[in-house]
Amino acid sequence: MRVLHVAPEAYPLVKVGGLADVVGALPKALRPLGVEAEVLLPWHGGLEARRVGEVLFTFAGREEVAPLGERVEGGVRFLLLGVEGFGRERVYGYPDDQERYLRFALAAGRLAQGYDLVHAHDWTAALLALLAPTVYTIHNLAHQGLVDPGPFFHWTGLPWNLFHIEALEYYGQVNLMKGGIVFARRVTTVSPSYAEEIKTPELGMGLDGVLRRHAGKLKGILNGLDLEVYDPAQDPHLPAPYTREDPSGKALAKAAFREKTGLKPPILAYVGRLDFQKGLDLLQAALPRLTELGFSLYVQGVGEEGLAQAFREKAVAHPGRVAFLEAYHEPMARLAYAGAEALLVPSRFEPCGLVQMIAQRYGTPPVARAVGGLKDTVEDGRTGVLFQSYHPEGLLYGVLRLFHLGAEALGLRGMEKDFSWRGPALAYHGVYREALNWRG
Ligand code: GLC
Repeated sequence: MRVLHVAPEAYPLVKVGGLADVVGALPKALRPLGVEAEVLLPWHGGLEARRVGEVLFTFAGREEVAPLGERVEGGVRFLLLGVEGFGRERVYGYPDDQERYLRFALAAGRLAQGYDLVHAHDWTAALLALLAPTVYTIHNLAHQGLVDPGPFFHWTGLPWNLFHIEALEYYGQVNLMKGGIVFARRVTTVSPSYAEEIKTPELGMGLDGVLRRHAGKLKGILNGLDLEVYDPAQDPHLPAPYTREDPSGKALAKAAFREKTGLKPPILAYVGRLDFQKGLDLLQAALPRLTELGFSLYVQGVGEEGLAQAFREKAVAHPGRVAFLEAYHEPMARLAYAGAEALLVPSRFEPCGLVQMIAQRYGTPPVARAVGGLKDTVEDGRTGVLFQSYHPEGLLYGVLRLFHLGAEALGLRGMEKDFSWRGPALAYHGVYREALNWRG
């Protein structure tokens, strides 16, 4: 079975968020099951690759040619498509994102003809569901890809009768995510709990009705963790390797983390995007009480300016108690996973989440909100703590409960958990088979 993954980002070539980890790891895990999976990305700026050909496609009624690059990493074949509008520094966040990603998807549709199945990820690749047999994965319903119908039908050449409430139409615009859900043979999302939550008005982000209508083809498959990439027994960023059997190296990580951050223990850490989704307003509201109770806070990540500004100010106001690293910095992130007393994940919603799995693998218990993939990966009272209410008191109570239960013991228990990609890859293989046998 030949499957083409189509996505905007994939580790180790280009990473903005957890999506990249999934697209980088899943193809490797599918190989032992006899699935030949390749990954197609836009040719972002700075990506080196060998030119192997070109792709002809039609955009806005005109023939265009895009160079095709190839790179093999960890045994996986990555293809890079150099359509107009890429070759820039960032992956997202340009005013013409809709146009350039539609161009990418149209060209990808041509390339897809050489494969049995497309596995399309998130809104930027959703159009593939209309162009080839597709399994569509929702990583985050918050970004749906809305396009004005005029330009959309002009660019894609698709028929206007798709501008219909049972197809692409969404409050007067074209909604690409909706198209992915409606036209894919199978739809998955990245945890079983999120698959349930998005069928409700609270977390359905306006698509809960569509998801309820197509619930028969929707399935939640928990993401795995690349156990080679994230392994305290062979992590070059840690002062010493350690395992569950011999965790002595973890004390060195704690000492190094304290020294690098200048924070007094116990240190609570947040690592991730500075985004509305992540519940950082809770963290800021709970901070005065946390420091009063003797905790320190380490925050690392980039994102929204308002949130960044608030943490900059807090770090200046509380030296030795609050530290803020405004960067995507893998070595410090690894030290935080290994060296903090607890990892905080107070998300509003969380399709799967990665850091809570990494922290458990590194023996650090998470305090996480009981939503989506967090609920499915953290065992409350056993390997971490889950809190329900989206309120600073909820987070505070979670932290106190963790230390009452014994943070260290819970952390060690978390190291026993199996987060490998083996189970998820099997589940995807099953979904691929269903999609290939589909008679719509
Ligand atoms: C998105 C979601 C995150 C998930 C990741 C990979 O970034 O916000 O929860 O883990 O996609 O599926």
